[in-house]
Amino acid sequence: MGFLNDIEPLKQTALTELKAAPDLATLEQTKGAWIGPNGKFTALMKQLGTLSKEEKPAAGKLINAAKVELETALASRREELELKAALPKEPTDFTLPGRRRALGKLHPLTQVTDDIVRAFRKIGFAVADGPEIEDEYHCFDALNTPADHPARDSQDTFYLNPQTPDARPYLLRTHTSSVQIRVMEKQPPPIRIIVPGRVYRRDNADATHNPTFHQIEGLYVDKNVTVGDLKGTVEFVFKELMGDDVKIRFRPHYFSYTEPSYEIDFTNALVKKMGKDWLEIAGCGMVHPQVFETVGYDPEVWTGWAFGFGIERIAMLRYGINDIRLFYENDVRFLKQF
Ligand code: DAH
Repeated sequence: MGFLNDIEPLKQTALTELKAAPDLATLEQTKGAWIGPNGKFTALMKQLGTLSKEEKPAAGKLINAAKVELETALASRREELELKAALPKEPTDFTLPGRRRALGKLHPLTQVTDDIVRAFRKIGFAVADGPEIEDEYHCFDALNTPADHPARDSQDTFYLNPQTPDARPYLLRTHTSSVQIRVMEKQPPPIRIIVPGRVYRRDNADATHNPTFHQIEGLYVDKNVTVGDLKGTVEFVFKELMGDDVKIRFRPHYFSYTEPSYEIDFTNALVKKMGKDWLEIAGCGMVHPQVFETVGYDPEVWTGWAFGFGIERIAMLRYGINDIRLFYENDVRFLKQF
């Protein structure tokens, strides 16, 4: 019966040690020392077998209750120590500025393109797309551009090697005007589209040129379309983009796929600030009857206009950027500003 009297003091010592364990490793050691296979408390339990039948139930009950108490103390100390281990070692300084999550942004050219598209959508234009690897037919012939036109020159155009000696060469489109033809080949009038896209020219890169850049093409075909519609549309879109102080003017020009043709000049406070009166911004005109003939539209029935302008130009003006190459260098310090 002597060991029954040992239960209580042993239990108390074990409880004190468990509660005092300073870290998880010590706690596991303490657990082993008491209720592990060779623990002191375990040894006590093993002695149960030596008791008489009458003594066993009361003693068993006592020991089991003590063991449950030890296990509960172990679990609660373990929880405390685990929580402590998960806390930062350094105290938190609540006066520090909060950490901001870095937000991604659209490239400035994408932002400007989206704005242009949004302005045209308001007046019923749909976005069309076409291949960047084009053939001479869609890029030049069908646009009424003669075979000896300098734009076809390999100094201006990137040609791709033909697969066979007599195959017609492919090229990288020099303008988005090729998509006018692709759209008209596919669908009958009326047509009201814009085409944002990448174009390629064999230019050396400098502050205002880059071998790849972006254009937006517009094409409107219907009955009784006039230059007045063209001018009104261009004016509307530029005011949407650059504000109400925008003025535009049309200057006579030559493009093989429009007749008459114009260059569009543009001015506002930003242009004046650059010390200029006008900035040339786009080409446009009334679709040439020959272009309609080529795609199978009757030029006696249908009229239309088209325009094309460079997106970089507009972005540079809008954001006051003085070197076109900045758009392509992917320098985050530059891109972050827009
Ligand atoms: N394709 C011309 C260029 O790249 C721009 C242009 C001029 C497009 C007149 C047109 C147009 O649709 O009618 O410079």
